[in-house]
Amino acid sequence: MTTATLTHTAARVENAVKVYGSGDTAVRALDGVTVGFRTGRFTAIMGPSGSGKSTLMHCAAGLDTLTGGTAHIGDTELSALDDRRLTLLRRDRIGFVFQAFNLVPTLTVAENITLPSDLAGRHPDPEWLDALVDVVGLRDRLHHRPAELSGGQQQRVAVARAFAGRPEVVFADEPTGNLDSRSGAEVLGLLGDTVRRTGRTVVMVTHDPVAAAHADEVVFLADGRLVDRMDRPTADSVLDRMKAFDTAASRPGGPS
Ligand SMILES: Nc1ncnc2c1ncn2[C@@H]1O[C@H](COP(=O)(O)OP(=O)(O)OP(=O)(O)O)[C@@H](O)[C@H]1O
Ligand SMILES: [Mg+2]
Repeated sequence: MTTATLTHTAARVENAVKVYGSGDTAVRALDGVTVGFRTGRFTAIMGPSGSGKSTLMHCAAGLDTLTGGTAHIGDTELSALDDRRLTLLRRDRIGFVFQAFNLVPTLTVAENITLPSDLAGRHPDPEWLDALVDVVGLRDRLHHRPAELSGGQQQRVAVARAFAGRPEVVFADEPTGNLDSRSGAEVLGLLGDTVRRTGRTVVMVTHDPVAAAHADEVVFLADGRLVDRMDRPTADSVLDRMKAFDTAASRPGGPS
């Protein structure tokens, strides 16, 4: 990989292998995946259930370690870091959004958004925060508590929290899994907007073609391998690609 490519890749894995367990019960969740997530882009990771999407995201984000191969955030190789440095890297350079919003119920919206920075003893850039509050449309909810918000609004708080520290890359695992389709579309639109307006990078795991269509690019996993990439996806083109997997998997002699 050239230096030019490196500087434009927010996160990447090379020959990534992840084996859970050992012996007869070992599961090869990642089977030699090489993929880069480009800076300033919104990339979706798609694939059937059990294809390794969450595993890929967790290993790329330093939440889990690879059995083989390498994972980088920017130019930093994750396996070279001890636990303390890895924790700092996750705190300072990565944002996370999960299916469960994971907000602190006793804190206000504003306090939830700045919680990671507060824990790190840092002061997020006030202008950045101010702009972010507008992007996520929570200006009139800042002093409410999570229980007083809808699910979609709570996930928007989680999105703002993920971006508050100006991370190099935000990883999201099924961020709309707990939302109805309208709130889901709002949160996805928001992720796309934030990428376009701020030049940040988002990597989102989803099994939903409609969700994937909000991304700039989709990478497809099947059986722990990267099998395709698609630029400017639409829900229909992603759905068609997914159907092709089902056909290949059910064909005699196809992947089992
Ligand atoms: N902690 C674990 N221990 C053992 N096996 C695991 C573990 N986590 C995941 N696996 C296995 O690894 C494979 C990939 O799992 P992964 O969670 O990455 O799939 P996924 O694509 O995210 O699926 P889904 O769409 O259902 O969330 C699956 O076969 C799964 O059972
Ligand atoms: Mg998953």
